[in-house]
Amino acid sequence: MCGIVGYVGNKKAASILYNGLKRLEYRGYDSSGIAVNDGLHIDVVKRKGKLKDLKNEIKNDMNGGTIGIGHTRWATHGQPSDINSHPHSNCKDNFVIVHNGIIENFRQIKDHLIKKGHHFKSETDTEVIAHLLEENNQGNILQALKKTAEQLKGSYAMTILAADEPNRIYAARKDSPLIIGLGENENYIASDIPAFLGETRDFYILEDNEFAVIKKDKVDIYNNNLEQIDKKTHRIDWDPEMAEKQGYEHYMLKEIHEQPDAVRRLMAHRVSQTGINLEELKLDQDFLKRLNKIHIIACGTAYHSALLGKYMLEDLVDLKVETDVASEYRYRKVPIEKDDLVIAVSQSGETSDTLASLRMAKEKGAQILVFTNTRGSSIAREADHLMLLKAGPEISVASTKAYLNMIVAFYIFSIFLAYQKAKISLEEYKKLSTDLIKLPELIEEIIEDSGELIKKRAKKYAESKSAFFIGRHTDYPLAMEGALKLKEISYIHSEAYPAGELKHGALALIEKGVPVVAVAVRKDIFEKTLSNITEVEARQADVTVVVCKGAQEIEDIVDHVIYIPDVNQLFAGALAIIPLQLLAYYTALLKDCDIDQPRNLAKSVTVE
Ligand code: G6P
Repeated sequence: MCGIVGYVGNKKAASILYNGLKRLEYRGYDSSGIAVNDGLHIDVVKRKGKLKDLKNEIKNDMNGGTIGIGHTRWATHGQPSDINSHPHSNCKDNFVIVHNGIIENFRQIKDHLIKKGHHFKSETDTEVIAHLLEENNQGNILQALKKTAEQLKGSYAMTILAADEPNRIYAARKDSPLIIGLGENENYIASDIPAFLGETRDFYILEDNEFAVIKKDKVDIYNNNLEQIDKKTHRIDWDPEMAEKQGYEHYMLKEIHEQPDAVRRLMAHRVSQTGINLEELKLDQDFLKRLNKIHIIACGTAYHSALLGKYMLEDLVDLKVETDVASEYRYRKVPIEKDDLVIAVSQSGETSDTLASLRMAKEKGAQILVFTNTRGSSIAREADHLMLLKAGPEISVASTKAYLNMIVAFYIFSIFLAYQKAKISLEEYKKLSTDLIKLPELIEEIIEDSGELIKKRAKKYAESKSAFFIGRHTDYPLAMEGALKLKEISYIHSEAYPAGELKHGALALIEKGVPVVAVAVRKDIFEKTLSNITEVEARQADVTVVVCKGAQEIEDIVDHVIYIPDVNQLFAGALAIIPLQLLAYYTALLKDCDIDQPRNLAKSVTVE
């Protein structure tokens, strides 16, 4: 989605802003721009396209100005173009603004301002903010900003340069993240932590309806009544190198390879041979005893982890579990009891639909458990109980290591809950925990072993127009994730089906050579999946099966078999997903696609 950066200090702002935008590049965008104040006036450069197109336009460090703001845009109002790129300004060009989010009442405001004589340059919702500021400004810009914010409906994270006050950046937020990085005689502002990774580790989080005035030697934060408030400093625990490619051709490949360590980090201090330690969640024992329904809400890849989590919880804890995509859940009249637990899963912790669903559930009295990879994110901060995924910064738009850690978080939580609710014996509890600890090594093995075979299979996929993924039980959400990965980065139409459902429609599309991936690592249902594999094989589909070692009989039926290590079937998904991720990667590589930044997609979706 859109990204914001800002800098004030003694260094040349243009290159700092550009580097900050570069670090946010992975989030997906279609245009970018920066504004720098050199003390005399505010210079704006903006371009449709990639950041390198913007770089060519930045001349002479923009007169060496040491204060500025920057933006990467993912178009919502008005197509990607130079004019619609941020920053935007008012008629007199004395307020220059970048904005994330959507101003829902911008048409009414724009019509009103046009009648008052304002001239608009772009089709964006953002530009109205700059004109409104001009209209509201009676000499005190902070008050003008507050008044402006009150007139806006929707979501915003915005930073503003004012020509009359060249030593400060103004900022305001509602429902879209902004963090302020604290340095020595310099300060930063950004929508996401990686923008200033490497510059500073200390930051403030701006909350909804707060305002900030950022100077090089001082950051003042105000509440909604413009009373100055104290802020807690947070510390980033990510290393800047974690966000580098480290010799891999793409972040996605690097992140696939990082999965064993990501899982180790997630399990450290939480899983041992004697069981699970989740004291950090601060879940009340009595509540856990009463608990009989869990709702899991998420979007995209996180939703696929949620579906797998549902099967795990049903299997081990024998609970009612409802799962829904957050964009649907938030508008349903879901009955939520006060003893229900709602689990919100989100890599970024900022997905607008997940946040809205969480708030809706909270209002109805549910307790909220969050699995997120982003400390300090909006979703993390609204959690009653928080499990950080510890996957490290994920740069590729297509999620791999954060997804795997979501799955493992569900494993950990399910075992924990099963024991708390006396659904498993102490012996089973220890055995399951011990099996979990073995996962990282097995993940290493499958990454190592499957690469070559998958590269060969990718050739078939790269030539195909569409592909099917099938599986039953926990293998079905894995098939969904495999299909999503392939379509996201290689643009091949791919669909996942519960294997048993094929014959109710999709089988009509299966003919000679159609690629089908069958996930068949769930042993208790293997024979059933095998029948479905036989059905597609009989129609001469090109079938690849992911299966556990030991099921060699499959080779009598299909030509392409990818073996994963033989493992407790409850945890086989954590291994089976790796070949599917690699298949998507190598297919996209053969098709020469923009793997880390697939077209039209964004890493963090902060609008509806
Ligand atoms: C976007 C990303 C996906 C991600 C989804 C949910 O669509 O491209 O990779 O799965 O948002 O994001 P979240 O941060 O909530 O997990």
